[in-house]
Amino acid sequence: MRGRDFISITDVTSQELDTVLQTAMGLKDKGRQTLLAGKTLALVFEKPSLRTRVSFHVAMRHLGGDCIYLSPPEVGLGERETPADVARVLSRYVDCIAARTFKTETQSELAAHATVPVINALSDGEHPCQALADMLTVREKKGGLRGLTLAFIGDGNNVANSLSLAAAMSGMHFRIASPEEYGLPGDIRARASELAEASGGSLKAMHNPAEAVADADVVYTDVWTSMGQEHEASQRKEYFAGYKVDAKLVAEAKPDAIFMHDLPAHRGEEVSGDVIDGPHSVVFDQAENRLHAQKALLALILSDETGS
Ligand code: CP
Ligand code: NVA
Repeated sequence: MRGRDFISITDVTSQELDTVLQTAMGLKDKGRQTLLAGKTLALVFEKPSLRTRVSFHVAMRHLGGDCIYLSPPEVGLGERETPADVARVLSRYVDCIAARTFKTETQSELAAHATVPVINALSDGEHPCQALADMLTVREKKGGLRGLTLAFIGDGNNVANSLSLAAAMSGMHFRIASPEEYGLPGDIRARASELAEASGGSLKAMHNPAEAVADADVVYTDVWTSMGQEHEASQRKEYFAGYKVDAKLVAEAKPDAIFMHDLPAHRGEEVSGDVIDGPHSVVFDQAENRLHAQKALLALILSDETGS
């Protein structure tokens, strides 16, 4: 993976995905390293962030490297300067760029003009770094991935896209229940189905949350309104009204099912407080795993060694 971009979760093979997870588990036990001494990561963000920004920064520091954050108004991607020029200039200063953008095309444009690797730190189309942490969390909590059923309830958004692809690459059974018009995009569905077929997993899209959750090992949800869609919030609240993950819905899953959410969460909307703060929830271990998964990703992309 040395020197490669990571724009989509499918930019790694199933085997490489497994290597990232193994490396993450190794680094998690080892603590601080000097694998990235002298390396600098630039974070170029068009949208707000807590987890992604802090976990990338801390990941670089734990590995002996440095990190620079460029906030939305500072960088002015496409307004103050074209993504192509931003990529060309940053490539002269830093060793890697992690970008959070609205359009996924901005990621591709950055990658096309950068001479250093570009990592997608969330776009409207995908959130591949979240999917790495999600797979790591399921693997830790359940002892593996193959054959497990993950039920995603809600919007077929960036998080669902990367998660469905990662699950399909890992031999999992991915079910998604969404309102009509808010399901997974057709291209993601087709690609995930293809990957699932190759790995022994499966993908099923439906409208009924209880059907999706039946006997599932993992119940996952995300916000109904993603960043950049705020003007649609009231309409989305109406469409998604029947898609709240509450205790009654979680009771349809396996008794030892885990509840996951990428956060930030809206208690009382996509998830009830008793579920996200209850015994099935692993959301803060999941948030912690952003750090470990990204340390592994950065080590594999930027270093010849991974410390494991
Ligand atoms: N889950 C996630 O990406 O959180 P942030 O938006 O806070 O980075
Ligand atoms: N789907 C959410 C994820 C936030 C981490 C959004 O894009 O806002």
